Amino acid sequence: MRKHERSAKGKVVGMETDTCIKGAHILYHGEVLEGCIAISDGKIAFLGKEANAPRAERILDARGLLALPGPIDAHVHLRDEGLAYKEDFYSGTCSAVAGGITSVLDMPNNSPLVDSASRLAERARKARGTIVANVGFYSLLPADLNGLRAIAEAGAVAIKVFMHEPRTELPVWDEAMLLKAVSLANRLGLPVAFHAEDPGIIGEAKCKLRPGLDPVSKFVLSHPPEAEVEAVGKLARLLRGLRVHICHASVPRAVELAKGAGFTVEATPHHLFLSSDLYERLGPIALMDPPLRPRELVMALRALLYDGLIDIVASDHAPHALGEKLSTNHVPPGIPGLETMLPLLLNEVAEGRLSLQHLISLVCEGPARIFGLRAGRLEVGWPADLVLVDLRAKHVVKPDAFFSKAKFSPFEGLEFRGRPIGTIVNGQLAFWDGEVVARRGCGRILKPEGQSRGQGDEVPS
Ligand code: DOR
Ligand code: ZN
Ligand code: ZN
Repeated sequence: MRKHERSAKGKVVGMETDTCIKGAHILYHGEVLEGCIAISDGKIAFLGKEANAPRAERILDARGLLALPGPIDAHVHLRDEGLAYKEDFYSGTCSAVAGGITSVLDMPNNSPLVDSASRLAERARKARGTIVANVGFYSLLPADLNGLRAIAEAGAVAIKVFMHEPRTELPVWDEAMLLKAVSLANRLGLPVAFHAEDPGIIGEAKCKLRPGLDPVSKFVLSHPPEAEVEAVGKLARLLRGLRVHICHASVPRAVELAKGAGFTVEATPHHLFLSSDLYERLGPIALMDPPLRPRELVMALRALLYDGLIDIVASDHAPHALGEKLSTNHVPPGIPGLETMLPLLLNEVAEGRLSLQHLISLVCEGPARIFGLRAGRLEVGWPADLVLVDLRAKHVVKPDAFFSKAKFSPFEGLEFRGRPIGTIVNGQLAFWDGEVVARRGCGRILKPEGQSRGQGDEVPS
């Protein structure tokens, strides 16, 4: 273990740390080691053999658990503000830490929309002091592209474009305009993430719907796989080589087109593990956008994941009130996902289908690399964000017990092997053995690193 032992230079002798996590197995540089992790001032101060560990005020007994870097969920709708009845910063980040997630990136389709530096600042102000996981913010494109610089300077992690519902006054269907917007965002250090569905194909499919269909069937039939393939194909032709991220890819052909253009690709647990036959049994509870796909497509998408073509897995946690989901007219698409993503992926590890290193690449290193975050790494000097998991513990998904306000899930009743037991955010215990124990506000606001933006580290909350 000696070669892996690390400590902040010259600080170990006589150093007193806040907390020492003892007895855990630690995933460090691709190897599982036995040792201890000491935390000081919210940062990792020591990683190594227990005999060499510094003294600590508190000891956390983690025998039998595996310590992993804190996962970053890059696609989360935390809502709050005008949509706080669906989820708020506190309930959403409680849901995150209960699911073993230490950082989330928040989507901008809020009420009001997030499409300016001042809206970003307002949201960050509201989140600070409340959040129990780290939060970074996406912005929509501003109505005037001149606003992009201020958005970058305000610390947005990325720009989000909804191709079928633009939510911006900027004409994003105009190819020249889109190319200009993405190029400028990239020059300012901002990747651009796309919800890629072609509005033309959706519109045509809507016109062809036969009357009398239920709202779920209407939605599924008007969001066919071709809408995603067409949209990603268009982006691949137009934006090849630019810093573009494809959100929630649900169709294998779309993944291939995106990778061919040098884009990064995200997939969700639901598109990877659930198929459209579930609609018969669960209807609106399984409705999200893009909708679940037929079994053959799901199997092929999962094969692309195992083959390493998918960069990250993100939950697309999109909570709604149960009453809205069960409405007979309009059913909003979206499901909560923060509390099921890591358990489901740990189950893949426990069953031997996914390596631990691949898991870390999908939920820690991949998101950190794509969005330029100093997070998702167990290393001395880095923020002490980590999750302690029990790979043997079996657990049945019970949405009633979710910390999210959205207490429903298409994964209800499934049993997963592998469970987050403890979640540590900025060196503070945020979740332990089924309970959120965090001090409100222990999460920090995440801002991207990088010289291109002239930004330093994250701003402490
Ligand atoms: O299922 C979804 N829900 N897909 C989206 O694109 C939006 C999201 C939401 O905000 O509810
Ligand atoms: Zn989306
Ligand atoms: Zn989303």
